[in-house]
Amino acid sequence: MNIEGSVALVTGANRGLGARLVERLLDAGARRVYATARDPRSVAATVSTDPRVNVLALDVTDQSSVDAAAKTATDVTMLVNNAGVLGFGGALDGDLDLFQRDVATNYVGLLRVSRAFVPVLTANAPGAIVNVLTLIALAPVGGMAGYCASKAAAHSATQSMRAELRGRGIEVIGAYPGGIDTDMLAGVDADKAAPEVVAERIITGVAAGRTVIWPDDASAGAGSVYSTDPLALEVMLAG
Ligand SMILES: NC(=O)c1ccc[n+]([C@@H]2O[C@H](COP(=O)([O-])OP(=O)(O)OC[C@H]3O[C@@H](n4cnc5c(N)ncnc54)[C@H](OP(=O)(O)O)[C@@H]3O)[C@@H](O)[C@H]2O)c1
Repeated sequence: MNIEGSVALVTGANRGLGARLVERLLDAGARRVYATARDPRSVAATVSTDPRVNVLALDVTDQSSVDAAAKTATDVTMLVNNAGVLGFGGALDGDLDLFQRDVATNYVGLLRVSRAFVPVLTANAPGAIVNVLTLIALAPVGGMAGYCASKAAAHSATQSMRAELRGRGIEVIGAYPGGIDTDMLAGVDADKAAPEVVAERIITGVAAGRTVIWPDDASAGAGSVYSTDPLALEVMLAG
């Protein structure tokens, strides 16, 4: 997908990886970027005052908010499903309300936004849907069972949409980062890549036409294990 001249919409663009993705898209020559957030006032002024940036309210769990964004952002050629939440807990003892929140945001929310924007992307084709997934969508780590399951569902949805949109001029791309140094993993002692690096590699991967993107060193290593032996990745991540 050619980033130069594209019109991108990023969910969860007010902080973390989403904010960095907006910057990288602009650096790479996007003509316009819709920086969307649950609270548009939380998008940094340095970004929102850029003439190429339109700030929009978008809560991925709220159908009317998503519909309103799709009615406004009718020139989008690249949807970046980045918004996400993480509730900690094991499969057998985690808080099921948190599991449901993760599923509602990371899986159903991604589908809700994608469905709303497919008509827009089709009208403006060629285009792309870029889903920010995670390495641990492919095999879980301990203490994040609900999150991993929600991202596994989003990974599956990515594959389904890729098949359903084949031949319609819309690429469906999955990015599978390892740990990233953002609020989401604050307080967790783990290897974390800088969000700037992850954003840069996602956008470079999209521009290079990749369908699957491993956007940091840890995920690149684990991704090659997964490609040859998925069970070995499960054993590796389960510790
Ligand atoms: N951090 C990691 O280690 C890591 C690793 C792999 C993949 N990822 C994925 O990368 C993406 C970005 O995460 P991050 O690390 O940047 O986390 P973050 O710093 O916690 O940011 C999460 C973003 O998602 C937004 N969001 C949450 N619920 C939303 C909703 N219902 N509607 C719209 N926006 C919503 C948040 O907005 P508010 O400010 O309104 O809460 C925030 O902008 C997520 O999909 C995450 O799963 C993260």
